[in-house]
Amino acid sequence: MAKIGLIGFGGIGIEAAKALVLDPNLTCDIVAFDRAESLERVPGPQVGAYEEILDTIGILQTADTIKLTSDVDDLAGCDAIIFTAGLPRRADQTRADLIGINVPIVAGITERLGKVAQGALVIMVTNPLDAMVEVAYRNLGFPSSHVVGQAGVLDTGRFTAQASAASGKPASQVDTIVMGGHGPTMVPVYSASNIAYTPADDVIASDKMAEITQNVRMRGKTVIQKQGRSAIFSTAIASVKMAKAYLLDTREILPACTRLNGEYGYSDIFGGVPTLFTREGVFPVEIPLTESEKAAFDSSMDAVKDILGDI
Ligand code: LAC
Repeated sequence: MAKIGLIGFGGIGIEAAKALVLDPNLTCDIVAFDRAESLERVPGPQVGAYEEILDTIGILQTADTIKLTSDVDDLAGCDAIIFTAGLPRRADQTRADLIGINVPIVAGITERLGKVAQGALVIMVTNPLDAMVEVAYRNLGFPSSHVVGQAGVLDTGRFTAQASAASGKPASQVDTIVMGGHGPTMVPVYSASNIAYTPADDVIASDKMAEITQNVRMRGKTVIQKQGRSAIFSTAIASVKMAKAYLLDTREILPACTRLNGEYGYSDIFGGVPTLFTREGVFPVEIPLTESEKAAFDSSMDAVKDILGDI
């Protein structure tokens, strides 16, 4: 039985809870944390989702449990925590625009969380992601193996979907990876991407690759424009994929925002890189990049450093 904390029981937190309850490979005690005024609002999306999830556990006849709380102490003993608290961006905002609003929210909660939830893997989702991971890391006081950011799994999923559409092959035959910061400089890494065991750049024409890169980088905004709010379901599934890799010790290498310790020439900074997920924690993995991909990664890390300068 895994105890999983959801800090922020809004759009993404609710979808994450649903995904956890639906997962046949993981039985969990879900503790969903949000502000008391949100959890007390009746009718309200939080209490409504909670009641429906209770019924769904009954339908599925699983041993999962879910509890709503506005007390950080209830997160004690969590194995993994998915952190989405903070404001999502609107169509007229960049992720970086959220810094002033989300830094105090993330700093305040992670400081309290650090005192009660030692041993948990904290998966940050709040934007601007690369900066929020750093804020969480500083305030939690957890080892770098237990603080990680979700961005790469979502961005890579988007790259895979685009490459699948361009090649006519199902996503099940497409392996891709996106590295760098979770912003307009993110780097789809073609040299590490394959379609049906064939290098992606042998399958997709170079002008199409440029279009895909642009689509992947703009995808978050496209989703906001189409549904009127920031990506929720896909983000939740990406976060749950990471939590599961850790909890089930799958040893998958997933793209994630991970503390670097010399990898790719960077130290003491989080970067979006391939990351090994084990039950002992998460660890950056170095893969070969072409010269132009390394240069693009460096530019993306420069953009991350700019955002970090604002905190
Ligand atoms: C996105 C938001 C979640 O990329 O950052 O859709």
